[in-house]
Amino acid sequence: MKLNTIGLPIEETDKIVLELNVLLSNFQVYYQSLRGMHWNIRGKRFFDLHVKFEELYNDSQIKIDLIAERVLTLGGTPLHTFEDYIKHNKIEIGKNISNDEKAIQLIVESLAALLTIERQILANASEINDEGTSSMMSDFIVEQEKTIWMMQAWLA
Ligand SMILES: [Fe+2]
Repeated sequence: MKLNTIGLPIEETDKIVLELNVLLSNFQVYYQSLRGMHWNIRGKRFFDLHVKFEELYNDSQIKIDLIAERVLTLGGTPLHTFEDYIKHNKIEIGKNISNDEKAIQLIVESLAALLTIERQILANASEINDEGTSSMMSDFIVEQEKTIWMMQAWLA
């Protein structure tokens, strides 16, 4: 088995890089949906939600940067064009969402879709003892699961 400079098998690591780029693309779409909802949200909960969506997109922006830099650490090139992001996107695009329940519902669905991608990456990273990627995915998963719980509590 050929290893790269950081001691991980080259072929399997390349596969993880591809998956991380898919995650990156989906996060960018989610990020942009959050920005749209931050801008377009209307109604009596405007002040709460406007701030909440900003908090969520700022958090996503940090995660996006971590994913891209993990891709680079693994020897890959992070995707950075809208064209590539759309090509790899699997999650629903939130367009002109002004209704609060629709917004929160989209967040829950988007986070659930991101979790699926992250769990797959976690499984593949664990197989080759890629602890850096595994622990990053674990952290994201824990945080997003908690956010989903809070969003569902809001919806109930
Ligand atoms: Fe703003």
